[in-house]
Amino acid sequence: MTWTLYLHILAACAWIGGSIVLFGLGLFIRDKATQEIVYGAIGPFYGYFETVWLLILISTGFILGGHYDLLPMIGQTNTELAYWITLKVVLVSGLSIATILHLYIAFATHKRNRTLMQKLLSRGGSLAIFTLNLLILWAAMNIRSML
Ligand code: HEM
Repeated sequence: MTWTLYLHILAACAWIGGSIVLFGLGLFIRDKATQEIVYGAIGPFYGYFETVWLLILISTGFILGGHYDLLPMIGQTNTELAYWITLKVVLVSGLSIATILHLYIAFATHKRNRTLMQKLLSRGGSLAIFTLNLLILWAAMNIRSML
């Protein structure tokens, strides 16, 4: 399981690191024309790059969960470990939905003008991804300390 955990943590670094960099770029680059050039150039690469790492993260997570017999605990909250693994899976499900929504809007409107609703959903999605990542990391740390 050492290599699975290694891959899981590497994927977490790539996925969370990437999301923090992109979030920071959004705050740092205020000029709209520059934003369009930067996001237009890196957007598609970033979308594929992050999707691959998220898929690795979720699949290695379930392999680790199976190895430690945690999967039957999902949906229960009767022990501290069951509570944290259930919470982690709920947060990861929310993260996956926010990511699919965000990617869908990003690819559908690439180099095109967005409607107000598309802008709101896209920004809300990024904020949700950013926040959920921090919470998932907290849950991961708690699970690790109980194994
Ligand atoms: C966005 C998704 C995820 C992120 C960011 C994430 C992050 C992490 C991190 C950083 C660790 C190492 C914690 C530490 O050593 O203190 C970890 C461990 C672990 N994760 Fe995840 N994880 C994700 C998804 C999942 C999923 C979906 C599952 C299972 C259903 C899972 C199960 C586990 C388990 C069992 C460990 C402990 C493994 C061990 O210590 O040997 N993870 N996770």
